[in-house]
Amino acid sequence: MTHRFRDLLALEPLTADELSFLLDQSKPFQEIQRHPLKKLATLRGKTVALAFFENSTRTRISFGTAASRLGADTMNLQAEASSLKKGETLLDTAFNLNAMKPDCLVMRHAASGATHYVARHLDIPVINAGDGTHEHPSQGLLDALTIRDRLGTIKNLNVTILGDILHSRVARSNIHLLGKFGCRFTLCGPAMWAPRELEKIAPGTPIRCVYRIEEALEGANVILMLRVQTERLNEPALSSDDYILLYQLNAERLRSASRDAIVLHPGPINRGIEITPEVADGPQSCVLEQVTNGVAVRMAILYLLISGATETDTHPALEMKPKESANASD
Ligand code: NCD
Repeated sequence: MTHRFRDLLALEPLTADELSFLLDQSKPFQEIQRHPLKKLATLRGKTVALAFFENSTRTRISFGTAASRLGADTMNLQAEASSLKKGETLLDTAFNLNAMKPDCLVMRHAASGATHYVARHLDIPVINAGDGTHEHPSQGLLDALTIRDRLGTIKNLNVTILGDILHSRVARSNIHLLGKFGCRFTLCGPAMWAPRELEKIAPGTPIRCVYRIEEALEGANVILMLRVQTERLNEPALSSDDYILLYQLNAERLRSASRDAIVLHPGPINRGIEITPEVADGPQSCVLEQVTNGVAVRMAILYLLISGATETDTHPALEMKPKESANASD
């Protein structure tokens, strides 16, 4: 079986085998993050274009760090300072970036489907770093890697997702990935953010919407928190204070979940709104591990897409000691 991913636009079309392959390929790159010298020469001479048409802290820095730890150079489009502001179309911007001959484009955009649209017109691999409310594949993968490390498996878990599920690309990528491994989902949030239609977004995956947080947390192995965009709260019907009262994850509510349940949050966290500092910084929280794992997952994605490597190729983190390669890429 060969694994060739031309692009990484969504997790929904990938099989459990392909997803496991991506997670397994990330593993040796996790080791690199713990090494004092973190730079490999695997993608030396290659260029990764980063085009973030929407704000990002973690994801952009994480892809940039992943590229440089593989020895690649980066090209950075700053949407705010670019000609998009002068009326250039998305496709023209993409063609112009491509004309500078990058080997791959990592792209984030506020419109669902924008990354697919650009990918159809380019001859280089395109990686979706989040498109509207559609998908955020690298986030789904880093979440799965974090869960697998902490709980030893991603199979048959009870996963509770809390917050604005309707608008969350992170929730969708997690459901499409973990659903292929037999996980069951409980979605909980205000009815406007957790409508019953969501129960059908991944046919074959058990998904239920529940409106009382204690019930939603009962027996949960994984709690996936989502950021609350307070501007989306429809004050005065549902204010931030109401949200806190009804849906905030605090230590007492966390006790309704399974004792070894873990808490994930993609960031940015609104401390004191969707989660208390006590839970965010507590022993069950994985938020900073998620960030560390993000670099490893993105190294694996960039490596596989740019090099076209398959499972029969020796993994670069295994064949090369970072110490030996540290100077090779400079
Ligand atoms: C998420 C995103 O942008 O989709 N953040 C991230 O990538 N770490 C979630 C969010 O912004 O709410």
